[in-house]
Amino acid sequence: MTSTTPRYGILSEDMSEEREQLIGMLTKAYWMELETVMSYITNSTNPDGVRAQEIIESLQQDVQEELGHAQQFATRIKELYGVVPGSMDFKAEQSYLQPPDQQTDIVHVIKGVIEAESGAIEHYNAIIEFTEGKDPVTNDMVVAILRDEEGHRRLFEGFLREYEAEGKA
Ligand SMILES: [Fe+2]
Ligand SMILES: [Fe+2]
Repeated sequence: MTSTTPRYGILSEDMSEEREQLIGMLTKAYWMELETVMSYITNSTNPDGVRAQEIIESLQQDVQEELGHAQQFATRIKELYGVVPGSMDFKAEQSYLQPPDQQTDIVHVIKGVIEAESGAIEHYNAIIEFTEGKDPVTNDMVVAILRDEEGHRRLFEGFLREYEAEGKA
């Protein structure tokens, strides 16, 4: 790097190792968001029934939010001198958000969404912890994204409670 490299902070040469580690964490977050976009398109399209409509509308909105998150993670990877990976590197992990046997099985979808959001919340807390005192910009960005995921999770927890109260979950 040139002599114009910042002497302090995540872009400094002293922190190149931490920067690499962080790019790895951000790349994982990027894939998680993209897979969530796929899963939420699937699960906002397949469900049948009157009660599915609330879930469908909610997930349709989330698709846009998760896509925005993916773009933010990609941008931050680039800003940290990383390279955003190509689609051939993608590995699916959300076995719990595959279409259920019956498309009226809304509880399956709700539980899958809660699992996806919980996974994101865990990973983003780890990024926040890692960047504490090292990279305030990534820290700030991920704190805001974490709040979105906590909101998503809370909403679907509420949906699940309704089904549980009726003995259907
Ligand atoms: Fe997200
Ligand atoms: Fe989310």
